[in-house]
Amino acid sequence: MAKALRPLIAANWKMNGSPDWVDKPLEFDALFPQGQRKSLDVLICPPALYLQRLSDTTRQAGMYLGAQDCHKAASGAHTGCLSAEMLMSAGADYVIVGHSECRAAGDTNKSVKAKASAAKRAGLIPIICVGETEAQRDKGDALKVVKTQIKGSLPTLADYVIAYEPVWAIGTGKVPTLKDIAEIHDAIRAQVGDGVRILYGGSVKPTNAKDILAIENVNGALIGGAGLEMKSLSEIARLAV
Ligand code: 13P
Repeated sequence: MAKALRPLIAANWKMNGSPDWVDKPLEFDALFPQGQRKSLDVLICPPALYLQRLSDTTRQAGMYLGAQDCHKAASGAHTGCLSAEMLMSAGADYVIVGHSECRAAGDTNKSVKAKASAAKRAGLIPIICVGETEAQRDKGDALKVVKTQIKGSLPTLADYVIAYEPVWAIGTGKVPTLKDIAEIHDAIRAQVGDGVRILYGGSVKPTNAKDILAIENVNGALIGGAGLEMKSLSEIARLAV
């Protein structure tokens, strides 16, 4: 049932890139042409500054465009922040909310819920990130932490994506066992229902993506480091079809 969901391969560029990365989507399309990935969604989330610049090339390449965070308000006195409406007008289709790097900088379940709801109001699809720290996993609390984060972070409106990203697996080369990934994804599935795509994120590479993407309730991946190079991103995406 869950594998009937269209896989989503998403690259989170974080604070990386430069104006000349505008052609990366076309580079990706040359490596893995649109005609060969009709059953797959591919998304690039560049720094917000480059959304507008990438909006044409992602469309040409048959890819979606996303932002990495948004404010909960539509406008107002919030220095340095961007609203979901602004990101939408710059060409975004999706927005990541509650990434562990943003949770570490102050996001809470409550603020993530408000951001996800703001994204929905603006017409964006939120990708809500959850995941335990190493200490929480070592204590045996991974499942409890993730369930609590989900309960507190979901928007009131339907149509969102969940990304399970264990904090200790991000940028470290460490990955949970396939059994541990399956256990968490099954629990998330039971919590959010059949229609929601659940991505895995944390040190996804071309070498481990095949096994991870084959897990029943894994509907795609949220990729950091390996999403900066179109060669590795396209290799991972090929393993999702
Ligand atoms: P890495 O793939 O570099 O571990 O990053 C994962 C991530 O944080 C994606 O949002």
